[in-house]
Amino acid sequence: MPRPTIAVARAIFPEVIERLHAHFEVRANPQDQLLNPQELVAFLQGCDGLLCTGSERIDAAVLAACPQLRICANMAVGYNNFDLDAMTAARVLGTNTPDVLTETTADFGFALLMATARRVTESEHYLRAGKWTRWSYDMFAGQEVHGSTLGIIGMGRIGQGIARRGALGFGMKVIYHNRSRLDADTEAQCQARYVGKEELLERADHVVLVVPYSAASHHTIGAAELARMKPTAVLVNIARGGIVDDAALAQALRDGKIAAAGLDVFEGEPQVHPALLELPNVVLTPHIASATVTTRKAMANLAADNLIRFLTDGAALTALNPQVLDAA
Ligand code: DGY
Repeated sequence: MPRPTIAVARAIFPEVIERLHAHFEVRANPQDQLLNPQELVAFLQGCDGLLCTGSERIDAAVLAACPQLRICANMAVGYNNFDLDAMTAARVLGTNTPDVLTETTADFGFALLMATARRVTESEHYLRAGKWTRWSYDMFAGQEVHGSTLGIIGMGRIGQGIARRGALGFGMKVIYHNRSRLDADTEAQCQARYVGKEELLERADHVVLVVPYSAASHHTIGAAELARMKPTAVLVNIARGGIVDDAALAQALRDGKIAAAGLDVFEGEPQVHPALLELPNVVLTPHIASATVTTRKAMANLAADNLIRFLTDGAALTALNPQVLDAA
């Protein structure tokens, strides 16, 4: 029996590539060249499996051009780069990397909230530019975090991690909005109260977005939602580009409709709306919420485990369309 062949779309930890070599013929991309759809299809020819990231879109056209492909293992918890219906129809398994990044990503959500509310990067740029010649009482005075009201939109595992940090660590009053309400035990652990989206926007001092991207969640926050928020409010997006209407956000920040925003994800990233780049009251980071060495290794290893389990014994650890397993 020839060994299965897998492709690894982006550069990842060499030790994970080594693990894969023990099971498969491996086609790697050590130069980390970004592959456009045609290049991805060419790269995938003859491959049974793919380890990919959110940068590679897997849709019906790619699947039709790669009939040998049986599994795409995403090294990300979000999987809006997958057309899961098309994958299921083509009997291609999709997997993601939940759980291993939950606490790390929640840490970062809080880091971005703190940095934005307390104007950390703005004041650092000022200092580095040599503008700090004397102290004054209202210099970079920001928004209070402890004891304030934290509103979380999207109360999955990461949202719950942020709620626990806010309630238990910072004495915040936590309100949340989600597609479905959490059970009473989980609400109690998070010390979080369910409210409607409009109430959340009106009451929260800080709004953190952790909702998965889909057509239904596109522009969850646009001009109308920003207009409901407090002029002192801080908005943090660690979810996905497209959850926020970035042009409307830039306008709201410019007009003082809200105080500040912390953004780790952007519409059309790695491009960033030029108006956001001009504003001082925005903290901008390049999609790094899960980026610690330990967590990124755990994500790469979980993606590798999914490939190994599926292509050696037909099982998977974190299947997104398990009906493909049932049909196999
Ligand atoms: C995720 O895991 O979805 C992160 O956003 C990295 O893509």
